[in-house]
Order: sequence, then C-alpha cells, then structure tokens
Amino acid sequence: MRNGPVATRGRVLPPNDPRQYDDLAGEWWRPDGAFAMLHWLARARAELVPPASRPGALLVDLGCGAGLLAPHLAGKGYRHVGVDLTRSALAQAARHGVTVVNGDATAVPLAAGCADVVAAGELLEHVPDWRRAVAEACRLLRPGGLLVLDTLNNTALSRLIAVHIGERLPTVPRGIHDPRLFVDDRELVAECARHGVELRVRGIRPGLRGTLGWLVRRIRSGPVRTPGREPRIRATRSTAVLYQGRGVRHG
Ligand SMILES: C[S@@+](CC[C@H](N)C(=O)[O-])C[C@H]1O[C@@H](n2cnc3c(N)ncnc32)[C@H](O)[C@@H]1O
Repeated sequence: MRNGPVATRGRVLPPNDPRQYDDLAGEWWRPDGAFAMLHWLARARAELVPPASRPGALLVDLGCGAGLLAPHLAGKGYRHVGVDLTRSALAQAARHGVTVVNGDATAVPLAAGCADVVAAGELLEHVPDWRRAVAEACRLLRPGGLLVLDTLNNTALSRLIAVHIGERLPTVPRGIHDPRLFVDDRELVAECARHGVELRVRGIRPGLRGTLGWLVRRIRSGPVRTPGREPRIRATRSTAVLYQGRGVRHG
C-alpha cells in the first residue's frame, strides 16, 4: 500500500510535504486537534530530560514545530532553542518562550558542542536524509550531553498502524507521513554510535484505555478541550512501531 497525495485546505500536496504544516498551523496547540498525539509524545519525551546541570544550559529542539515541548520543560532550567523549516510553526513556538531558528535539521546553523541536550521528537521520519540529521544532532552535543528522540520504525507493522490506521483517526493528520522515510531502530543506534552517542531505544505506545476513552470523547463531542485527560505514553517491549531513544555523547 502506498500513500497518495493529500488534500488539506483546498490544495493537494504529496505525503510529507512540509507545506502541510502551514495548512495545519491552527491545529498545533489544540489538545484535541490533528496534532493531539504530539502533545502526549512531548510530555513523554520531556520525562527523559533531567533538570539542567549548570546555569545557562542549552536544549536544542530539532524540528521543534510549534514548541509543544516547551511547557514540559518548565522549571528544568534550560534555554530552549528550536530549529525548524516551517516559519508558521516557529512563530507559535516563539510565543511559548522558544528561541527560534529557521533552518534545516540536516545543516543546523549552530556551533558544534553548544547543546547540553538535543531533542528530536517525531522529526527523523520526516527527513529524507535522516542520517545527516542524526550527524547534526550529535555534532551539536557537548561531551556528556544528552540526545533524546522518538520516531517511527521502518517496519510493515509501523506502516500499518501509524499510517494506514493512525492517519484515519483524529490524532494524526492524513498524509503527514511518507512511510518510505521511516527509520530502522538498529540503523539509528549504529548511526548514533558512529557519531559518539550510545543510544538506547525502547518501544512506546499510547495507553490503550486512555486512548480509547479519548477517541470516544473526541468522536462524541468533536474537537473540544478535555484538559488533563489526555492519554499517557507507555513503554512497551516492542520497538516495531514507535520508539524513543536516549543516549549520552562520549567525552
Ligand atoms: C511531526 S512534526 C514534530 C514537531 C515537534 N517536534 C513536536 O513533536 O511537536 C515534524 C516537524 O519537523 C519539521 N521538519 C521536517 N523536516 C525538517 C527538516 N529537515 N529540518 C527542520 N525541521 C523539519 C516540520 O516542519 C515539523 O514542524
């Protein structure tokens, strides 16, 4: 099964076309909107980030989108710099306290070793040259710095669940993924190791009861806010669909 072009806001775009984020700009910060699952994932990603170990510590958020990670970093002591291709998303990130940089994750205009933490949430599966983005993430990290990420695995199960089922639910925009870009977890671990980061991965998934309850509420009442009742992301044994990675850069 292949993904075809997708129509949003009256224009037809190919799968994974970054202009989709402009068409969906009004969805980013709606907890029950098309990017709902990104909110759940941002909270889970932030749980991997410890409080800053020094004043002025820098967290670089590659593919930061509209800055959904920002509220979950509050009080941890980082300067939050976000890099993204999409200007309409960056404008929203800036309103949430993120220092924004309009740029490509495969050629980041920031100094090597500047970051205490690099986050790459739901980014790599959108980047045609994900290896280049990984090299950049590792280059930005200072020795001892931490890489945290989550992405979709390059498996048939992932294509089935994340694309052919997920994109028919109200939690994921239709056509946002090109499954040919999904990232094999073993290849990712190997690529990080080549750049001095020992990445450990674990499978994650939204909690089933919470997600079912969320979907029922969402279908019954439409896109309304249900604060505090969003599904939690849980660890799971299999990395075959969605997985998180966490690794420290060697000194
Ligand atoms: C699925 S969204 C994830 C956003 C954010 N990390 C989050 O979890 O809420 C993917 C983001 O990556 C950005 N993006 C895609 N390719 C990129 C690239 N090569 N360089 C920088 N940003 C990119 C898109 O503009 C979009 O904002």
